[in-house]
Amino acid sequence: MTKNHGSPVFELDHVSFSYPGSRPVLRDIDFTIRQKERVCILGANGCGKSTLLKILAGILSPREGTFHAFQRKISGHDWNDDRFSSDYHRRVGFIFQNSEVQLFCSTVKDEIAFGLLQQKLPSDTAESRIRDISALLGIENLLNQTPFKLSGGEKKKVALASVLVMNPDVLILDEPTNGLDPRTQAWLIRLLNSLSAAGKTLISSTHNLELVSKISDRGILFAEDHRIASDSPIADLLGNADLLKSVNLVDESYGIGLK
Ligand SMILES: Nc1ncnc2c1ncn2[C@@H]1O[C@H](COP(=O)(O)OP(=O)(O)OP(=O)(O)O)[C@@H](O)[C@H]1O
Ligand SMILES: [Mg+2]
Repeated sequence: MTKNHGSPVFELDHVSFSYPGSRPVLRDIDFTIRQKERVCILGANGCGKSTLLKILAGILSPREGTFHAFQRKISGHDWNDDRFSSDYHRRVGFIFQNSEVQLFCSTVKDEIAFGLLQQKLPSDTAESRIRDISALLGIENLLNQTPFKLSGGEKKKVALASVLVMNPDVLILDEPTNGLDPRTQAWLIRLLNSLSAAGKTLISSTHNLELVSKISDRGILFAEDHRIASDSPIADLLGNADLLKSVNLVDESYGIGLK
């Protein structure tokens, strides 16, 4: 932890998770993530990255172990409390690996407005926030379009807008640059860095080693047995070719990011 980091946001203690009828896809996970950290969850396909991020985002609950968020112990029952649940989802924004599953309204504008309306914001305040966030993401010209007709990159921007408009403290991004062209990837990296500079906690997942050092300082590396293999500064992880090879992360990216 560096001196700039604050109080714990998420604390996992011996957390395990399995989908009904299957073997555990997360085993004995322990870590703490603090305010303003930039953390990347790394690991091969199927190791459990998306599952872990969904636990942090309050979409799934651990089967075993304890999970604290904002220094409160979270239990499955908490999600039955609408007020708790809506406050949590306002503070913790989640961008799905596949933007398709995140977009369900008939226009982009309704999509971005959805969370604000849930919060019963006055309509002129909501309008001005929608305008600001659309300008930030450069999607003003898409506001009246139907989300499902947009390109993959445009859908990602709309998903980001619908989360950022809520001004969350914590942003969780599952494979954020998936399917984005190089210019849009570079734009997203700049956006994430400006959000980090503004004090947000950033948690992302990827198996793209070229990306990690640009959006994170700390890496939590999963092995294919669904356990944490290493939790270290990104530079140390990227410098450890044997470790990356052992978790099936260097075949596709061998040499990238390695000193
Ligand atoms: N809804 C589900 N029901 C049953 N099994 C699931 C479900 N979602 C994921 N799994 C399984 O859990 C394991 C972990 O999946 P997860 O999506 O968390 O992996 P990942 O690390 O994000 O992989 P990727 O790099 O491909 O995105 C996989 O074996 C997957 O098949
Ligand atoms: Mg995934």
